[in-house]
Amino acid sequence: MMKRNITGLFFMLGCFLYAVEKPTTLEETCVTAECHTTYKEKAYLHGPMELNDCRACHKPDEPSQHTWKLLQSVTDLCQSCHLEVATMKNVHEPLKTGDCLQCHDPHSSDNKFFLHEKTIAEQCAECHDPTAHKAFLHGPVAVGECTICHDSHSSDYTGLLKVEPKELCFSCHTITADELKNFEYIHEPAKGECVGCHNPHGADNAQMIKGGLSDICFSCHEDIQDIAKAAKVQHNMITEEGGCLKCHTPHASTVKKLLKNDSQTLCLSCHDKPQEIGDGKTMPAFTSELNNKMFLHGPVAEKDCNGCHLAHGSDHFRLLIKEYPPKFYAPYSVDEYALCYSCHPDALTQTERTTDLTDFRNGNQNLHYLHVNKEYRGRTCRACHQTHASNLPKHIRETVPYGMWELPVQFEKTETGGVCTPGCHVAKEYDRKKPVDYSRQQGTVSRVE
Ligand code: HEC
Ligand code: HEC
Ligand code: HEC
Ligand code: HEC
Ligand code: HEC
Ligand code: HEC
Ligand code: HEC
Ligand code: HEC
Ligand code: HEC
Ligand code: HEC
Ligand code: HEC
Ligand code: HEC
Ligand code: HEC
Repeated sequence: MMKRNITGLFFMLGCFLYAVEKPTTLEETCVTAECHTTYKEKAYLHGPMELNDCRACHKPDEPSQHTWKLLQSVTDLCQSCHLEVATMKNVHEPLKTGDCLQCHDPHSSDNKFFLHEKTIAEQCAECHDPTAHKAFLHGPVAVGECTICHDSHSSDYTGLLKVEPKELCFSCHTITADELKNFEYIHEPAKGECVGCHNPHGADNAQMIKGGLSDICFSCHEDIQDIAKAAKVQHNMITEEGGCLKCHTPHASTVKKLLKNDSQTLCLSCHDKPQEIGDGKTMPAFTSELNNKMFLHGPVAEKDCNGCHLAHGSDHFRLLIKEYPPKFYAPYSVDEYALCYSCHPDALTQTERTTDLTDFRNGNQNLHYLHVNKEYRGRTCRACHQTHASNLPKHIRETVPYGMWELPVQFEKTETGGVCTPGCHVAKEYDRKKPVDYSRQQGTVSRVE
């Protein structure tokens, strides 16, 4: 940076360099063919210089010696004609402590605004380097437009900003502004200052995010980080770089919890393809679970996968919100079915005899109780029901897996009961009005392995 001595205001305005005699009277002008001509050879001339009015700023000290003084200290001098530059609340440090000449030449220059450096950005870079080593530069910074956001001299706002910090970003990012104005759900920190997450100049991350994409979310949502990392069943992509943004928007959304879309669409953006779940196992594409199904389970019909699954991680099988047995058979305990019983009454498998708690009964014998409530090899709900969607009423499955065979169940509902003819036992009926006497039916009950 060019450092100028402003204390000694006396200086020689001499032509001796040109080997021409110094004028010794006030009438002679300073810029003649012989003297001080270089000032006028520059591309940009300061107003008073156009008029050869050296005395707008200099006054003779001792004419016979050709010595001159400045009329006032530099800063006062400049401000006597440029009243407005340092009048606002926050004054740029060099205008307070130094003088205008740290950036401007008083006479003329080949650079606009009589700057010492070719561009404004280079002028600022004399003292600041906000773009150092940043891989991703903000558009206006990349083209050196420091003064589109900052005032070089003074401002009523912090950071020498030209507009109120809260409005600054919106003055160009109208789409983000519209989202924040019109969307129903707004991310709390986006109501404040954008620079909480974005560096206004640039950063080593895309979108000028401060810190990593996941780190920025975890910096405030430590609880989610804990769940994601400590859960027994993890949804691995959550902790991957940018994982949060697979499902959430950073600013605002029309869907609650800042989701990018309804949860079904979100889940299917990945689960429309088979996914590896470790141990060499692959989960089939989930799309076939729903496609062309006549009946959708209540929450699925609402596209509410969160009704049963925890997207961030869970201590239960398959990221479920509550306990549900992972296997086809399970010793009965009501707690094992906490998932289903968060929406359905647990009397379904707790009460042996009933006339109204379930339609799956033969007379007053509760067949749910019979099948599920067993100490050994109780059938889990999946033995008969399809969890997400089905083509049979009451979400009864069409087939059950039996080794390599998809064994047909052949369920039919009747007015007062139902009948199934699965490979595991002969046709079995139940009837709520006229109970079937099973002791008189033949056939053995075999088991699905
Ligand atoms: C707008 C005010 C202003 C005008 C008009 C002005 N000067 Fe200056 N001049 C200055 C200032 C300020 C300095 C620097 C003082 C310092 O460095 O302390 C200066 C410095 C100088 C110097 C010292 C060498 C240098 O360039 O730093 C000379 C010579 C000079 N002026 C000549 C002239 C002549 C000749 C004219 C008229 C053609 C003129 N000035 C018009 C403000 C002005
Ligand atoms: C005697 C009055 C006067 C003084 C003193 C004066 N200026 Fe100026 N300045 C002008 C005039 C006149 C213009 C041209 C009209 C305009 O652009 O406002 C101008 C223009 C400028 C410009 C703008 C050039 C542009 O391209 O828009 C800068 C920068 C500037 N002056 C800086 C200074 C600095 C720095 C000082 C102190 C060293 C100073 N002025 C002192 C009268 C003055
Ligand atoms: C830190 C560098 C810096 C200092 C110090 C500085 N300026 Fe400037 N000035 C600029 C830059 C950069 C521009 C051109 C961009 C802009 O409009 O802000 C400019 C533009 C100007 C202009 C023309 C445009 C306008 O805003 O009217 C004037 C006049 C001016 N400065 C006067 C001054 C005066 C007077 C001082 C001292 C009180 C001063 N400057 C100190 C950087 C500086
Ligand atoms: C002569 C050195 C110098 C030049 C050139 C300079 N600055 Fe500064 N600037 C400073 C100093 C000193 C400070 C106060 C200490 C700090 O924050 O670094 C400062 C502070 C700032 C601040 C923070 C103000 C605040 O209140 O937080 C901004 C913004 C700024 N400068 C922008 C600019 C811009 C834009 C330019 C180019 C037009 C520029 N500076 C050119 C020396 C300079
Ligand atoms: C898009 C608007 C924008 C542009 C363009 C911009 N800045 Fe800033 N700058 C800001 C904001 C906003 C802040 C305040 C940051 C904060 O409060 O954390 C800031 C702060 C600063 C500071 C204060 C210290 C710091 O880094 O936080 C300096 C110095 C600075 N800018 C210099 C520059 C320079 C030099 C340029 C041009 C290369 C520039 N700025 C371009 C918006 C901008
Ligand atoms: C003067 C206009 C202007 C202002 C003010 C401005 N920006 Fe920008 N911003 C741009 C431009 C131009 C781009 C580059 C556009 C592009 O790459 O699509 C950009 C890009 C961005 C990007 C990256 C977008 C992308 O798709 O890569 C982010 C994030 C951003 N700005 C945030 C901010 C924030 C935060 C602020 C307020 C501190 C702000 N901007 C103020 C003009 C501006
Ligand atoms: C909680 C942190 C956070 C806050 C606060 C925040 N952003 Fe962002 N912003 C992000 C993230 C993360 C992205 C990247 C989105 C992506 O890659 O999908 C982003 C992207 C952007 C983009 C690129 C276009 C887009 O929408 O994807 C712009 C522009 C932007 N932000 C502007 C702003 C503005 C303006 C504000 C202040 C109102 C703001 N941001 C506040 C985190 C934030
Ligand atoms: C500066 C702190 C901060 C950062 C950084 C931050 N958040 Fe938030 N977030 C909050 C606050 C405060 C709330 C509102 C209170 C709450 O629900 O905890 C919130 C709420 C949320 C909500 C729930 C919204 C609702 O309607 O209940 C989601 C989802 C969210 N943040 C996601 C993110 C994501 C994704 C990121 C990273 C891009 C992120 N947050 C970064 C502070 C932050
Ligand atoms: C697979 C999609 C998905 C991903 C990836 C994801 N979330 Fe969520 N997040 C959700 C869903 C769905 C909800 C709403 C749960 C509800 O409504 O019960 C939610 C809710 C939230 C909430 C509101 C509080 C809560 O627990 O309900 C916060 C905060 C949140 N997420 C932060 C994050 C953060 C931080 C990340 C990245 C580490 C992240 N999310 C990644 C789907 C996701
Ligand atoms: C960005 C892609 C992506 C999105 C979005 C996504 N998942 Fe996943 N999901 C995966 C991958 C990859 C796996 C396998 C690796 C793993 O377990 O993390 C997986 C595994 C699963 C598992 C099996 C977990 C286990 O180990 O038993 C379930 C259940 C699941 N996801 C449900 C959902 C639900 C519900 C949603 C919507 C809220 C969803 N996923 C959204 C990528 C995604
Ligand atoms: C009524 C509760 C419930 C709802 C709602 C629900 N699920 Fe499930 N989901 C389950 C249960 C229970 C399992 C374990 C099924 C089994 O192993 O029999 C499961 C398993 C999964 C699996 C693993 C499939 C496999 O092959 O192991 C994925 C993926 C999945 N669900 C995604 C979703 C998506 C996407 C939605 C929203 C469209 C959704 N779930 C809605 C209860 C539900
Ligand atoms: C988040 C709440 C919720 C959970 C958890 C839930 N269900 Fe449902 N279920 C419903 C709703 C609502 C309906 C009624 C709409 C319908 O008929 O599909 C329903 C209906 C049913 C039906 C058909 C009833 C009929 O009258 O058609 C069966 C069978 C069923 N659920 C089984 C289960 C099983 C098995 C589980 C545990 C794996 C379970 N549900 C977990 C909400 C839930
Ligand atoms: C052995 C096969 C079987 C098993 C195991 C089974 N269900 Fe059912 N379930 C049925 C049949 C058949 C119906 C239809 C009854 C009717 O409408 O005639 C039914 C109906 C239902 C209904 C509709 C309301 C009602 O009771 O009529 C719900 C809810 C239900 N089951 C939940 C469950 C849950 C939860 C589990 C696991 C705890 C489970 N089922 C296990 C066969 C079974």
